[in-house]
Amino acid sequence: MFELLPQAPPDAILGLAEAFRQDPSPRKINLSVGVYQDEQGRTPILECVKRAEERLLARETHKSYLPIEGHAGFAGHVQKLLLGADHALLREGRVVTAQTPGGTAALRVAADLLKRHFPQARVWMSVPTWANHPAIFKAAGLEVATYPYLDRAGRGLDLAGMLEGLSQATTGDVVLLHACCHNPTGVDPTEEQWAQIAQVVQQRGLMPLVDFAYQGFGQGLEEDAAGLRVLAGAVPELLVAGSFSKNFGLYGERVGALTVVTPDREAAQRTLSQVRVAIRTNYSNPPLHGAAIVACILDDADLSGLWQQELAAMRQRIAQMRALFVATMRRKAPQHDFSFLQQQRGMFSFSGLSNLQVDELRTRHSVYVVGNGGRINVAGMTPSNMEALCDAIAAVL
Ligand code: LMR
Repeated sequence: MFELLPQAPPDAILGLAEAFRQDPSPRKINLSVGVYQDEQGRTPILECVKRAEERLLARETHKSYLPIEGHAGFAGHVQKLLLGADHALLREGRVVTAQTPGGTAALRVAADLLKRHFPQARVWMSVPTWANHPAIFKAAGLEVATYPYLDRAGRGLDLAGMLEGLSQATTGDVVLLHACCHNPTGVDPTEEQWAQIAQVVQQRGLMPLVDFAYQGFGQGLEEDAAGLRVLAGAVPELLVAGSFSKNFGLYGERVGALTVVTPDREAAQRTLSQVRVAIRTNYSNPPLHGAAIVACILDDADLSGLWQQELAAMRQRIAQMRALFVATMRRKAPQHDFSFLQQQRGMFSFSGLSNLQVDELRTRHSVYVVGNGGRINVAGMTPSNMEALCDAIAAVL
């Protein structure tokens, strides 16, 4: 049987990361996969993580299975980060959370849950969106539909187009929204725009599914949750797929969470029981170590404070690189305006480079950028690679 299997194409993002690893060029620059790099081009282990691991090593007594829904102390912390410490939804017992192996598994568990109980629901997603989004929902057997997101210039939000697109969705359909740091564009709605989006979602009886993979990378932990909180105030039910890969730098530990807001306490517990079924038939129960690290940090005021400082430093470094890139490109290619990068948030921006230019960057200059819009990971820029990077981009423009 396997003899007849065709070769699958490489993954649009992780395939590039692999190609980068194999590139022997000493001047190669990786702006592809969404992984933070520091000024030296390293992906650091956060100091708060190292300290938490020391504590865990000293006190851990077993490596047994976690419950199906994950680490006991973890869910409460996730909910407080999403909604704020004393949100009414938490007091009312309407929110349930299951730990998942990364944000991707949170999306897949959500997709399996939806497919099993609401098989007719279509999942609406922005054009463009993270390359894996349509693949995950299609793999679960759900129908995928799209709404416009970017304006004609490809640099800002087309709110009118987005709302018009969403008005085509029917009651019970699901709307996938990026809470902040939209992947791949870096273009986020303002709080007023979130209110308008929430109004359409509420009026049409749609179910928001919020992908929240970059909390703290936009403007701050609280600020980045503003859109989610507007939605939570407008509709009785929603889902959130969260990730701690980026904001705790715990990529390979696979630590994320699926959170569901339900209409009442009883529905919350029944929903959690169905989430457990979706998990048990998928990966049984989640891995222990990453969630134990996150819980250990968030349980402790000092470690939490340190985490917030380290997260702010990552956010600020990315903002500095956005400014330096814009200034350097102004010197190297003054006829091209890249100032829009400074209005965008998070790790990514859409450079507007064509697929041909993206290919040329990789083959001639060993600069790795994701195709279909030229998504660049600003967190891969450093003061020392900036000149070479901007020379390469100027050369292909
Ligand atoms: C990305 O978009 O680069 C990240 O979310 C990593 C991934 O899994 O694609």
